[in-house]
Amino acid sequence: MTDRQLVVLRERALAAMDQAYAPYSNFRVGAALLASDGAITDGCNVENAAYPAGLCAERGAVAAAVAGGARHFEAIAIATEADEPTPPCGICRQVLQEFSPHMLVVSVTRGGGEARWSLDELLPKAFTSRFLERR
Ligand code: THU
Repeated sequence: MTDRQLVVLRERALAAMDQAYAPYSNFRVGAALLASDGAITDGCNVENAAYPAGLCAERGAVAAAVAGGARHFEAIAIATEADEPTPPCGICRQVLQEFSPHMLVVSVTRGGGEARWSLDELLPKAFTSRFLERR
């Protein structure tokens, strides 16, 4: 990923956060997912009156990117209004690792905070398709 791509990824995640539908938690999240071919796909959290039906920003971005033909990702930027950068939830870690277990995860805040992790650092010993081979 180039420095320029990272700049764009941050901007896209922050812009996606503004589209979030989060009337129940008031915790708005945006995501921007960089595919290996350079394409960027946005996502935002979409909540629901039936609370468990809500969707995280990261998984919204993955679903849209996969529907567009992407299968490999270099990085995801996540944006929130929290005081400190937030890592993705456990379900989103699992969904991301299905496609790109070593990808970079960058989390930014409106206030300019930033943290970076590799996905395998966030989800060591993941359950993968390898375990489905011997049933
Ligand atoms: N949320 C995300 O979109 N991504 C995360 O990684 C953590 C949580 C959303 C889900 C819910 O709409 C709100 O943030 C509060 O949990």
